[in-house]
Amino acid sequence: MKRKIDPDSLVWKSEYNIQNYKVDLEHQSLFSLAKKALLIRTMDNDKNEIIELKSILRSLSEYVKVHFKNEEQYMETINYPEIIRHKKLHSALLKILDTLVHSLNDLTIDEIEEKLYEFFWNYFLTHIIDEDMIIGTWSRPLNIIRHNGKWNDNFITGIPFIDKQNKKIFKILDEAFEEVAEDERDEKIKKVLTHLYSFMKEHFKKEEEFMQEINYSEMKEHKQIHQNIIQSCNELLKEINQTNSELFEKKLAQLIDEHIVNHMLVEDKKVAIFQKREE
Ligand SMILES: [Fe+2]
Ligand SMILES: [Fe+2]
Ligand SMILES: [Fe+2]
Repeated sequence: MKRKIDPDSLVWKSEYNIQNYKVDLEHQSLFSLAKKALLIRTMDNDKNEIIELKSILRSLSEYVKVHFKNEEQYMETINYPEIIRHKKLHSALLKILDTLVHSLNDLTIDEIEEKLYEFFWNYFLTHIIDEDMIIGTWSRPLNIIRHNGKWNDNFITGIPFIDKQNKKIFKILDEAFEEVAEDERDEKIKKVLTHLYSFMKEHFKKEEEFMQEINYSEMKEHKQIHQNIIQSCNELLKEINQTNSELFEKKLAQLIDEHIVNHMLVEDKKVAIFQKREE
């Protein structure tokens, strides 16, 4: 029978790390265990395969429980402000896993594999990316979250309006990473957001007009990235009243650094290179 599931797709990537040795190691071990379970089909005897698979799944589910406990303990030690919500998410995941473990005897080996794969791919990894990684953001000081340095002349593209806007986004980046006293934080966030929104409006509009003018070959993809950036900003904005303001400050700074500045340095530069080539 042809297999739909590819165990090799369950690969751990360093970008999933939350920068806590213990938590990261446990995430990796869980991935390896799931992969091991999905590789069982290479054995010869069908009966052994299913016994082995069930046994790995049971230990996997035990390990997930231990991992969640350890992660929750870690969140406590760093005073993670979203701990209550995060614990609820863990409980929901454990419920899904428990249902799977309890139904093991009613399922065929294909069904078990499918459900295990689904759990890891759709639930566990999504949880790590959407939730556990925020613990990492919270645990780091603001200045460490920053990857893009200060503005320098290497960023000059030679296209005046792009250069002007690149300089502007670096100014907003400096603002976002400026350390302020706790009682000034809300004010700072407001200022950064206002600057960011007016920047994006102006930048995207002007740049899209420019791409049209020069008949830029990757215009469609580029416009899509602009859309995605706006969507991420809007999604973050929804959290403004729910999240602790220090966490929000860090998330905002990270979004500007990772998505917006990176976009200017990589994608916008491509537009400039295209224009120069066409000249
Ligand atoms: Fe986790
Ligand atoms: Fe978690
Ligand atoms: Fe752009």
